[in-house]
Amino acid sequence: MIGETLRARIDAEIARFPVKRGGLLGALHIVQEGQGCVSLAASKELAAIFDVFPVEVIELVRFYNFFHESPRGRHQVYVCTNLPCALRGANVLLKGLEQHLGVGVGETTADGRVHLGREECLGACANAPMIRVGGVYHEDLDLAGACAVLDALE
Ligand code: FES
Repeated sequence: MIGETLRARIDAEIARFPVKRGGLLGALHIVQEGQGCVSLAASKELAAIFDVFPVEVIELVRFYNFFHESPRGRHQVYVCTNLPCALRGANVLLKGLEQHLGVGVGETTADGRVHLGREECLGACANAPMIRVGGVYHEDLDLAGACAVLDALE
């Protein structure tokens, strides 16, 4: 359930746009950040808030990698493996991170600390390879540098 605090932030987001629906993506980020996911129940609540069909919210949740329908690890780590990053070793980096963390792509470490995923191009190709940790980009990485980034996460 979306509580009063998140609802106030969503209302503030809506107020930034001339049309209520303009705040929907921002509202999804608010719920994702506040609850660790955008559950089916939350999607239905957002649909009611934004006067849209639930499927219109659910399709956004399922389209964007930023949103998850169930909780994942405390830190979302995504390795970009599109062509420019792949040409600069992203797949080797991903394999190394799988070994370092002891999980495969799409899995979360047993302690719930890190969820590892694969990402489409994030526009940082000039500094490939790169990973996204939450909303922060780490670029020009080798395996040692990427492992250092992950090891610094709480
Ligand atoms: Fe990786 Fe563009 S291909 S950031």
